[in-house]
Amino acid sequence: SRRITVRDIARAKERGEKWPMLTAYDSMTASVFDEAGIPVMLVGDSMGNVHLGYESTVPVTMDEITMLSAAVVRGTKRALIVGDLPFGSYQEGPVQALRNATRLVKDAGVGAVKLEGGERSAHQVELLVQSGIPVMAHIGYTPQSVQAFGGHIVQGRGEEAAQQLLRDAKAVQDAGAFAVVLELVPAELAAEVTRSLHVPTIGIGAGPDCDAQVLVWTDMAGMTDWGGRPPKFLKQYANLRQTLGDAAKAFASDVVGGAYPTEEHSFH
Ligand code: KIV
Ligand code: NA
Repeated sequence: SRRITVRDIARAKERGEKWPMLTAYDSMTASVFDEAGIPVMLVGDSMGNVHLGYESTVPVTMDEITMLSAAVVRGTKRALIVGDLPFGSYQEGPVQALRNATRLVKDAGVGAVKLEGGERSAHQVELLVQSGIPVMAHIGYTPQSVQAFGGHIVQGRGEEAAQQLLRDAKAVQDAGAFAVVLELVPAELAAEVTRSLHVPTIGIGAGPDCDAQVLVWTDMAGMTDWGGRPPKFLKQYANLRQTLGDAAKAFASDVVGGAYPTEEHSFH
């Protein structure tokens, strides 16, 4: 069996089929999602928060994305693996974007890359696509610009901002992007963008009418610590933080109390 390709993604929109995307940052977790049939995985720069302990995605480097993308590729057989271009790896212009995207394709083996920005990133998208690298765009709330946004704020509210979002979506589609992530966008506007594009939209906090949905896997599985206040858009499908903590406590208590290991775990 072969991997999912961007052609399969295009066909899904023609057929009106919705699909799921999850982030992945390591080989073993990626293999679980691959076996579960998740068709597209994103090695997101959300690894900064989730995996590397940074306060945002901003410090994430090409070395980090490349290493973890390679691990996710090795752990999967079927999924299309998308590598995120980190902050500072494409903003200088199309040539810088191509150099770094090429590295992700050659050294990590990803099938596509993602970058943030609509009209502002269209030239980058265009050169990558012309060079044979499929590109997923990302508009609405773009976390690499957290300093400029001043917080996790819903984008595209009001007529002017809505028109800009539609222009951004068209710009990356015209530049050749095969899909567009819409993050923190009002549901009605996300539905309008989805109708007006021939490439699929992938929503996160963008309502039910996008062609696909993405979540950060640790958020999806209840591993992330929200301090009791998860975001409104999130649905948690497991309680992994509790489950893993309970397992660690049970192991600790067995070791301290002498209940593990026993005869059945011992060699003679
Ligand atoms: O880095 C990431 O996880 C992302 C998704 C949330 C779209 O960009
Ligand atoms: Na990202």
